[in-house]
Amino acid sequence: MSQIRKIVIPVAGHGTRVLPATKSIPKEMLPVVDKPLIDYVVAEALEAGIEHVIFVTGRGKSALEDYFDHAFELEAGLQAKNKTDILTEVRQPIRPPGSLCYTRQQSPAGLGHAIWCAREIVGNEPFAISLPDVIIRGTPGCLKEMVDQYKVCNGNIVAVEEVPREEVNKYGIIAPKSTDSDLMEMTGMVEKPTVEDAPSNFSITGRYILQPEIFSLLEKTEKGAGNEIQLTDAMAELMKAQSFFAYRFSGESHDCGSKLGWLKANMAFAKDRSEFTEDVAAYAKELFSI
Ligand code: G1P
Repeated sequence: MSQIRKIVIPVAGHGTRVLPATKSIPKEMLPVVDKPLIDYVVAEALEAGIEHVIFVTGRGKSALEDYFDHAFELEAGLQAKNKTDILTEVRQPIRPPGSLCYTRQQSPAGLGHAIWCAREIVGNEPFAISLPDVIIRGTPGCLKEMVDQYKVCNGNIVAVEEVPREEVNKYGIIAPKSTDSDLMEMTGMVEKPTVEDAPSNFSITGRYILQPEIFSLLEKTEKGAGNEIQLTDAMAELMKAQSFFAYRFSGESHDCGSKLGWLKANMAFAKDRSEFTEDVAAYAKELFSI
């Protein structure tokens, strides 16, 4: 069994659900407390032992590249003023040379197409995918849990969580064989089903470990839900040939691609920061007259 060394993070989307904030900044750069979404997603991957991050990017996303690089003038200014604590934080996202790379999705043809764009860089080894709209609060992180499960089950794994039945049409939904344990065998999956057609209320939460055979299937996948090439459709094909599991992770997901999800994420992650916990709780009580 190969180690999971690489992750693909698709960052080409426009963030239409959080406009107008994303009119001039990439949605992945929206801050939660004091760090952009993408920082949380990359940190979760590094915690899982992943060494190489592949961003599938697009026009107007260069702020992401700058975030993970040196900012010489800023760093020199902080150094000159002896602001070493801030300097350490500013340098924290910088990774060893060659461990991050960027490739472009040249047309918005869907998530499946975005992942396929990374095929040459991933090569012939199992790899992870994280969708950057979703940040996950939990210790250990979701990907660390999935990599640990992968060591046991091999195959392919998607992270899942239960969602209200009336919201299944927003997600990829799996059909579990049994729900007795957190690692569930599956019998199917479908992208954005109607409430009537949904095989369960377990949604795919934007974290995946997949075998490289997904790429040849993505190449043949026709447009599906939303008239886009869907990763879920290619995974459903892969499931016919390889073992596939859904993993009920222990953390709490926050969909920061929605305004309410992003607001809640700010509150939740601020609560976790000891310097903010009490003040945030006191202000929330006062604001909402609780
Ligand atoms: C994507 C996936 C879907 C998954 C969701 C999680 O959908 O296609 O299977 O459940 O992310 O956020 P999107 O939100 O891009 O429409």
